[in-house]
Amino acid sequence: MKLQVFDNYDQVSRRAAEIVIEESRKHPQLVLGLATGSTPIGLYREMVQVYQRGQLDFSEATTFNLDEYYPITPDHPQSFRRFMQEHLFDHVNIAPERIHFLSGTAADVESECSRYEAAIEAAGGIDIQVLGIGENGHIGFNEPGTPFHLKTHKVALTENTIQANSRFFERIEDVPRHALTMGISSIMRSRKILLLASGEKKAEAIKAALQGPVTEELPASVLQLHPDVTVMVDKTAATQLEGVPYKA
Ligand code: F6R
Repeated sequence: MKLQVFDNYDQVSRRAAEIVIEESRKHPQLVLGLATGSTPIGLYREMVQVYQRGQLDFSEATTFNLDEYYPITPDHPQSFRRFMQEHLFDHVNIAPERIHFLSGTAADVESECSRYEAAIEAAGGIDIQVLGIGENGHIGFNEPGTPFHLKTHKVALTENTIQANSRFFERIEDVPRHALTMGISSIMRSRKILLLASGEKKAEAIKAALQGPVTEELPASVLQLHPDVTVMVDKTAATQLEGVPYKA
């Protein structure tokens, strides 16, 4: 794993955007795996700004988001689909038919998960997967204890994740109790992975993911087994790492 420690969140976001943008210039048909949550907001903001300056064309890019609550309608204010529209898709020229999302309203969850895996495969696989990390080390909605071999599947959210995500909902009771998520094995098939983290709340998970044992109890630790992972953190998220100078 390559580790890059930056002074602050904006620098993490800028550098992550540079990587995505460089790749998309080299390879306009880029297949991007995307995450929601607070962490990638700065990355999406940078991408939108570069696009608005006319320095980027996403017209041939394809996207797959990692996860979606279940059940939830796509136009629900807290759906991940809506989040992506607001932070990225409404502002750049990604063709709507090349935006892929797990459906939070699918009646047959199993066939929805297989459809998604097949769509990723049909697109040629994910070139760059952007990941955040949960305070408990989850990636996507793969909570501690999730078998590494799972592909896209339905999960029950842990109390910890419901608590963390309740900040976006009016009441904690409104947070859906389930989600559909790409599995660890789906994530690990991406050619390149960018793991982003910021803030001291993530310091423990980052330490365990990078310097702890590879274990299903800390899902992000599996990334130690991937050949091309860049971990980009601000210095507050790096405070528990051993032997790391706090400089980019
Ligand atoms: C979201 C996702 C989650 C988040 C993680 C961190 O699509 O897959 O794994 O990346 O919960 O969330 P934030 O960035 O809000 O701290």
